[in-house]
Amino acid sequence: MTTFNRADSRPTVLVTRRFPDGSTRPLHDAGLDVEQWAAEEPMSRDTLLAKVAGVHGLLASITERVDQELLDAAPALRVVAEYGVGYDNIDVEACTRRGVVVCNTPGVLAETTADLTWSLILTVGRRIGEAIDHVKDGQWQGWNPNVLLGQDVHHRTLGIVGLGAIGWQVARRALGFDMRVLYYSAHRHPELEAQAPVSFVDLEALLRESDFVTLHAAFTPATRHMLSTAQFKLMKKTAYLINVARGGLIDQRAVYEACRDSEIAGAALDVTDPEPMPRDDPLLTLPNVIVVPHIGSATVATRIRMGTLASDNIVAVLKGATPPTAVNLDRL
Ligand code: DGY
Repeated sequence: MTTFNRADSRPTVLVTRRFPDGSTRPLHDAGLDVEQWAAEEPMSRDTLLAKVAGVHGLLASITERVDQELLDAAPALRVVAEYGVGYDNIDVEACTRRGVVVCNTPGVLAETTADLTWSLILTVGRRIGEAIDHVKDGQWQGWNPNVLLGQDVHHRTLGIVGLGAIGWQVARRALGFDMRVLYYSAHRHPELEAQAPVSFVDLEALLRESDFVTLHAAFTPATRHMLSTAQFKLMKKTAYLINVARGGLIDQRAVYEACRDSEIAGAALDVTDPEPMPRDDPLLTLPNVIVVPHIGSATVATRIRMGTLASDNIVAVLKGATPPTAVNLDRL
């Protein structure tokens, strides 16, 4: 593993976004020379490539692509700390070849993202988006036994695709709703099965049996469009799809067709491909689809925890210590 050369007096760090106040305190406390992008919008690619020249640490987010081109523009770079748990915006192989440590922020956002997942499960299952519009549009004529009937959540089957830290927190919450919980994951998790009644099944069984299918898998070339027309046809016509992981996990055109043609009951998406979703995307015309703007980890406390952990990772690498949550240390 390559660490910062102590002969270089003040390591410099570029922070690519205006993260919530307090997020980068460890960088300042460690006496690093920090440049933080102050605008609300992300910087342009050209600006990013110009600014990384000479930096030792980069605190980046999903809106920045860290690839070979960026590494070539940043010869002094030692560590890239992602402000987030997903790091599909980073070419980890290219970083590893260059001896650059890549870190992310697992754990600290799991409960908050699980809470958002549950907000979406309940919102889409009980048609809350339509219900709000119903009142605002002046359609509420008084109590009506036939208006806005949704699906029960309690005592139904939840199918979790990807039982990492977030998927696990979603599962724990499902037990409070007396749900049957199925999961499909790259690896079976006997240690979690010992703690709660969650059952490992293959993806096909999960899709066939679940009333709510929620995605928490990492986005990789292997998981791109893991759900498309064929998979939606396996789902119950009364089932809902929830995605808080990455938009690319699902074929969005196929989601549109499945929701339009009532192959499934509806979908709730916190992530889309691309982001932002264009305003004229046909998914936005469907009453049984809700889309929110990638807010899974969006609470004040969690965003500060993410920034603090990302900053701790950078400080550790630049001080020659082991970063708390690196993803490629074993390969450096
Ligand atoms: C995450 O933590 O992966 C969020 O989606 C933001 O990138």
